[in-house]
Amino acid sequence: MTRINFFHQSVPEICDLFKDEVIRRYVESTLAYVLNELEIEEPGRIIDEVIELATTYVNIERDYEKPAHDFLVKEGVTEKIPEKLSNRAELIYSQISPHLLPGLVLDMGCGDGKVGELAYLDRHAVTLADVYEHKNILDLCTRRSGLDFVLFEQGKEVPITEKYDNALLLTVNHHSNNPMQTTLDTARLVRKGGRIIVIESVYGIKTEQEEDIHYGERSAMMGLNFKLLDHEKQMFANIFFDHFYNRVIHYSDDPKNKVNVPFNFCTPGGWKMFFEDLGLEQERVVYLGNDQLTVPEYHTLHVLKK
Ligand SMILES: C[S@@+](CC[C@H](N)C(=O)[O-])C[C@H]1O[C@@H](n2cnc3c(N)ncnc32)[C@H](O)[C@@H]1O
Repeated sequence: MTRINFFHQSVPEICDLFKDEVIRRYVESTLAYVLNELEIEEPGRIIDEVIELATTYVNIERDYEKPAHDFLVKEGVTEKIPEKLSNRAELIYSQISPHLLPGLVLDMGCGDGKVGELAYLDRHAVTLADVYEHKNILDLCTRRSGLDFVLFEQGKEVPITEKYDNALLLTVNHHSNNPMQTTLDTARLVRKGGRIIVIESVYGIKTEQEEDIHYGERSAMMGLNFKLLDHEKQMFANIFFDHFYNRVIHYSDDPKNKVNVPFNFCTPGGWKMFFEDLGLEQERVVYLGNDQLTVPEYHTLHVLKK
């Protein structure tokens, strides 16, 4: 049965993505960049095994997600990720902080809460909210009085009534079953004139698009590789890597710990129209490109005014 996402696009099965030789070569070369970044020896053998599992499964979890995860653990790949991701929150905070207004921050879809913690250390009162509670959250909120966490259910309104000066939606919308409801519910909690800062993994990037911030040679090469794909294949590349990162690298047997992957990707221009249709003004868009080398997705940052 074909899966249709929020934007009415059909979402192919992961194994079917590889019927296209261009996607197969893109996945191979991008996985090679990621494994080089992780300083893994013999990346070719690892890439072959991952692609073999991704193309031959009958049951995706049993025959691909779990065995590929176990293989990456055995080969020492997963253990290198936390170290490489250790400055991820700092990187994201450096991208969003120039756009924050003084005052309160709501970090909607906060994940591990590390970006929200940096806003807190930068003298903002911060509320974290998410549809699941990451294992870091309890410790974080116990250590930092004044940093609160609100848990709510996918599809339900977040139970907050306070108004914030800023809200963050950082790579959340493509994980939400209903990005419109998530954006509207976030906007409900922002005061008139306040800001919503969105980062999204996008497709539909022209080859000649220049990034506004540069993150080194490997990032530029990964970005160019992506921009050379046609726009439909960019969407397919996002599907593969979003699934690979969230469901293979971070595999969990526990359904509560599985990150939602509805693949609600859009183009930068599509997001602008989407936000404007909801009554939010896009003040600025920043092309970040492939800023995170172990998460090979092309990012844009959108500064919205309520
Ligand atoms: C890729 S993570 C990003 C986490 C964090 N914003 C960051 O940048 O580190 C996506 C997050 O969105 C959350 N999420 C998914 N659906 C959501 C929804 N409907 N409302 C709020 N958060 C949601 C997930 O639970 C996950 O923590």
